Amino acid sequence: MFLWGTATAAYQIEGAVREDGRGVSIWDAFAHEPGRTRDGHTGDVACDHYHRWREDIALMSGLGVNAYRFSIAWPRVLPTGTGEVNDRGLDFYDRLADALLAAGIQPVPTLFHWDLPQALEDRGGWLNRDTAAAFADYAATVAARLADRVPLWITLNEPFVHMAYGYAMGIHAPGRLMLTDALPAAHHQLLGHGLAVQALRSAGASQVALTNNCTPVWPASQEEPDLRAADAYDILHNRLFNDPVLLGKYPDLSAYATELDFLRDGDLATISTPVDALGINYYNPTRIAAPTDDALPFTDASITGHPTTAFGWPVVPDGLRELLTGLKSRYGAALPPILITENGCSQDDVPQEDGTIDDTARIAFLDGHLGAMRRAMAEGVDVRGYFAWSLLDNFEWAEGYHQRFGLVHVDFATQRRTPKRSYHWFRDHLARQNTET
Ligand code: BGC
Repeated sequence: MFLWGTATAAYQIEGAVREDGRGVSIWDAFAHEPGRTRDGHTGDVACDHYHRWREDIALMSGLGVNAYRFSIAWPRVLPTGTGEVNDRGLDFYDRLADALLAAGIQPVPTLFHWDLPQALEDRGGWLNRDTAAAFADYAATVAARLADRVPLWITLNEPFVHMAYGYAMGIHAPGRLMLTDALPAAHHQLLGHGLAVQALRSAGASQVALTNNCTPVWPASQEEPDLRAADAYDILHNRLFNDPVLLGKYPDLSAYATELDFLRDGDLATISTPVDALGINYYNPTRIAAPTDDALPFTDASITGHPTTAFGWPVVPDGLRELLTGLKSRYGAALPPILITENGCSQDDVPQEDGTIDDTARIAFLDGHLGAMRRAMAEGVDVRGYFAWSLLDNFEWAEGYHQRFGLVHVDFATQRRTPKRSYHWFRDHLARQNTET
C-alpha cells in the first residue's frame, strides 16, 4: 500500500509543555531565551494538539489519508532523557496510535524531531557520545509500548538540519555556533540512529527508516572553484548523512576536518545496520558558489527565475525528480525504498471574509511536486509514500508562527482549525488515487 499522509512534529504542534510529567526540552529553553525566535514565539501552546488530537484525527479522516507521520517528544517519555519512564507521556502516544488505527490511519512515529531533553543537553547534547546510547534506550522504551501496533518507525528527523542550525550556526536549539566543529553532533546522531535501529528491531518493530533532508546541489557556474564548492556542500548536506547509513563509510570530509577523532571502531558497522526505507524531506534545490571567506568551503548563492514561498524558498518541483533519480544513480542497489516524509510550502494564508482560505499557490506546489515524484517513479525510483508538510499551520521553529505550512489554517488566538482550499484539493487527489488503484 502506498502511504499517503501528512506530517507534523511534537514541539511544533503539541503545546502542553508542562503537562502530565513532561520534562524540559532544548526547544523550551531556547524559545524562552530573548531574541532566539521571531517575536519571542514559543511552542508552549502551539496548536494545542495535546488536547485537540481527536479533532486533528478527524481532520485527517476527512482528508482520506492512510498514514500520519508525527513525532514523539523524548522529554514526555523520559523527562530527564534517561532513567525513569513517565507512563503518562507514553499514554498520550498510545491513545493517539489507537485512535489513528481506529480511523484507518497508520501511525508513523519519528523518535527525534529536535526536542532533546534539556538534561541531556546539560551533559553536552549530541556532542556527547553517551547521547547515542540514551537515544537507543528511549527508542526501545517507546517500541516496547507501541510496536505491537506500529509497524514503521523513523529514528531521526533531518540530522543535517539539527547539526547545521542547532550546533554549527546557532539559529535553532541548542543555539551553539561551532561551524565545522559541529561534526561530532552529526556522528553521534548517526550512531544513535544505528543503535536505535537495532533496539527497535529487538523490540518488535518490523520496519525502520531514517529521514534525511536532501537537496539537489547546483553549482553557480561550471568554473572549477564553483564546482569544487558545490561538491563540498553536497558532501556536508547530503552525503554525510546518507553514505554512512547506506554504504557504511563517510565521504571525504577533508574540507571540514583534518581527523575524525570521534569515530571509533565498529561505529560505521552500527550506523549502516540495514534500514527498510529512507525518508526524504524535500523543499528546494541549493545553488552553491566558491567561498568568499575562510570560514566554510562554499557560499550559498540565490536561485532566481522561479516562484518563491513566503519563506523566500524557490519553488522547483522538478528538483524532487532530480533528487530522487540522483539518489538512485549514486547508491544503486544500496538505496532502499524511498518515503517522501515531508514536502510542502509556507504561504501567507489569510482567511477571506467568508472564512475560506484560497491557497492556490500551495495547490500548484503540491501538484507540481506530486508530478515530479511520479516522473521519478517512472524513471525507476521505488517511492512508497508521500507525506505533505504539514497537516496544520504550526510553530515554525525560529520563525515562530509567522510561516504557515498547513493544509489546515490555525487561528492561534482561538485554536480554530479551518481547512484551506489545498486540503480539499489534496482530498480529491487522494480520492482519485483510490479509484484508480
Ligand atoms: C522540518 C520541519 C519544518 C519544515 C519547514 C523541515 O526541515 O523537518 O520541522 O517545519 O522543514 O521548515
